[in-house]
Amino acid sequence: MITLFVKLVINLILLLREINSKGMVGFYDSSCPQAEEITAKIVTDALSVAPTLSGPLLRLFFHDCFVRGCDASVLLNSPTQQAEKDAVPNKSLRGFDIIDKVKTALEKKCPGIVSCADIVALVARDVVVKTGGSTWNVETGRRDGNISLLSDAIPNLPSPFADIGTLKTSFKSKGLSVKDLAVLSGAHTLGTGHCAAFKNRLYNFTGKGNSDFDPTMDSNYVNALRKKCTINGTDNLVQMDPGSSIVFDEKYYLQVSKKRGLFQSDAALLDDSETKTYVNDHKSGNADSFFQDFAVSMVNMGRIEVLTGTAGQIRKVCSRVN
Ligand code: HEM
Repeated sequence: MITLFVKLVINLILLLREINSKGMVGFYDSSCPQAEEITAKIVTDALSVAPTLSGPLLRLFFHDCFVRGCDASVLLNSPTQQAEKDAVPNKSLRGFDIIDKVKTALEKKCPGIVSCADIVALVARDVVVKTGGSTWNVETGRRDGNISLLSDAIPNLPSPFADIGTLKTSFKSKGLSVKDLAVLSGAHTLGTGHCAAFKNRLYNFTGKGNSDFDPTMDSNYVNALRKKCTINGTDNLVQMDPGSSIVFDEKYYLQVSKKRGLFQSDAALLDDSETKTYVNDHKSGNADSFFQDFAVSMVNMGRIEVLTGTAGQIRKVCSRVN
């Protein structure tokens, strides 16, 4: 009898842990039934006015989840510029005003119910759908964190100069697989990068002078990029998937396979057999398989160190704690 009781308690604990770690689809179905619809409408309107916001809005979710988990810590402001958003890699983030717009609309409809962390996750999904990708069910029920530290950003966000080993370790530390790395890197089908993030590949790569470029980059591409990123010129923006940077498609993998990945971290996908196979399998079509994989990997990323139950809070305004 006692053993049966112990077994029941253990099963219950395991079940609760599973619900906690896996999150829940439709968390707001009864508390704020229109939450997802309202969010999607605001994303559609925002992208119709400013299509280049698609990249920044998708990137926000990644930068949120990799630092203190998906808790909207990336959205917090600090009066002394000591928050995550004040760290160098986050200075190029954009789209905070769109998240605020969604939050204002949802607070009006159902005050104190929908977390900023969930808004970031929903917006990322909506962006992919509006730009040509496939949809997925977003797990919701995340709560917002109360802490955001500049010093947490650099150690947790992978660098564009990272090699494949460092990237794999970074993803593993967040509970993500090598496949997730290959798949989520495909987000670079959208958006732009600053010269500063790849200029080292164009000039004096190994210290042999300005004609010395990264040999893992196609020389014609190097020449084209040098025109946009001159040695002492401005830190211009370059499309990561040229000609298709506001369309969510699988063409990123074609670029990488042609040694035209913009960052060393993109090129690094050719340095591991599993990630290289993924690139090659998706370089000429196979979009449906990428879209399906992307949905799974985004759900996986959305589970990083999520706050649930009574942890954290539901912020009233996404840029500050209540
Ligand atoms: C694998 C490691 C990754 C590295 C090292 C990396 C690095 C970068 C860098 C340096 C930029 C350019 C920022 C700028 O100069 O303005 C960028 C842009 C971007 N990243 Fe990543 N990223 C990685 C993974 C991801 C993931 C997992 C996602 C989302 C699922 C993502 C989504 C984006 C998007 C959409 C942009 C374009 C942003 C814009 O248009 O402003 N990245 N990334």
